[in-house]
Amino acid sequence: MASTTQTDDDGAFSAEQYFATQPPSPSLDQDIKKVREFAQRQLREGRRVVLVTSGGTTVPLELNVVRFLDNFSAGTRGATSAEYFLKAGYAVIFMHRQFSLQPFSRHYSHSTHPFLDFLELDSAETEPSNVAGSDATRISVKPSERKQLIEVLAAYKAVQKAGTLHTLTFVTVNDYLWLLRAVAQELSVLGRSSMYYLAAAVSDFFLPRQRMAEHKIQSGKGSLHIEMDQVPKILKSLVDEWTREGFVVSFKLETDTSILIPKARAALARYGHQVVIGNDLHTRKYQVVFVSPASSHRRSSSQKADGGEESYIESWLRIDPASYPQKEIEEDIVKELVQLHDSWISMQ
Ligand code: PMT
Repeated sequence: MASTTQTDDDGAFSAEQYFATQPPSPSLDQDIKKVREFAQRQLREGRRVVLVTSGGTTVPLELNVVRFLDNFSAGTRGATSAEYFLKAGYAVIFMHRQFSLQPFSRHYSHSTHPFLDFLELDSAETEPSNVAGSDATRISVKPSERKQLIEVLAAYKAVQKAGTLHTLTFVTVNDYLWLLRAVAQELSVLGRSSMYYLAAAVSDFFLPRQRMAEHKIQSGKGSLHIEMDQVPKILKSLVDEWTREGFVVSFKLETDTSILIPKARAALARYGHQVVIGNDLHTRKYQVVFVSPASSHRRSSSQKADGGEESYIESWLRIDPASYPQKEIEEDIVKELVQLHDSWISMQ
């Protein structure tokens, strides 16, 4: 990396430098005002709050963006987990990539379970084109779909009534970083009652605004060379500065299972947070590994009681692939995290 800006010791842009040079999105203030109101209400009502991040961030290559790099994530993990957190009594801030899956509506994704396919027109007319626009035509749900729809709809309406789900949207890694910092600062009023469940797939490299082309990059000049800077290690700032008391869970995605645990341990040693959930790209729906410091009340790797090496506990959660999608691994992930969060709170 040949950036001329100030960087961390590992060559990354420091978080401070990042926020001093990269502008926030115009909607940030409005977004955060609503998060503040939401957090204050949950505090008054005595609920725990979890921030769930979900989906992939993009890195635009032009200011008038036509091309961008993207990170893989459909948003299934985040959207599914958000539902189970709501079921467990948490209030949820669901911070997701625009158009990625969302809690409740995820059951009716246009690609896997299109909504229109399970509705039926009830009419004396047999030809659908003849009933178009008629107020007398009724719509019904196919009997095979009713049970699930009623369950999803009832849960969705209950959450709306309770006001326990707040949704935020990001597209770029820049949107994500600004939002994450601001939300964490707002949630700090909740102290240990806040949890951070960072399932989003966050870009590791970005193109600083100052070096972006204004207009669409033109072809015809041979190959394209772009030099990107490293995105700051945001977990470090989150744990050390933005939320000193929150319970922080990050994810580690790999395609080689044998390096999941070493990488997860390295992340815990580096950032000093509470849990890393490791998952392999191909088996992520059926198995994950929880990695946490043996003494998870310690806030950073520099705070070891005996000054020695930290030890870690690993435990695998698995479901039978044949039971999916009736059984979702996120149910067990959330159950386990709620217990860990309980212990974390009781360690005060
Ligand atoms: O959405 P699905 O299709 O269901 O897929 C879910 C998933 C596989 C994307 C998810 O389970 C997952 O593993 N998400 C994290 C993937 C990842 O990109 O890991 P990472 O090594 O880049 O980041 C590790 C952690 O640090 C993540 O929790 C990330 O949110 C966080 N991070 C990373 C970089 C950065 N600059 N800031 C961050 O907050």
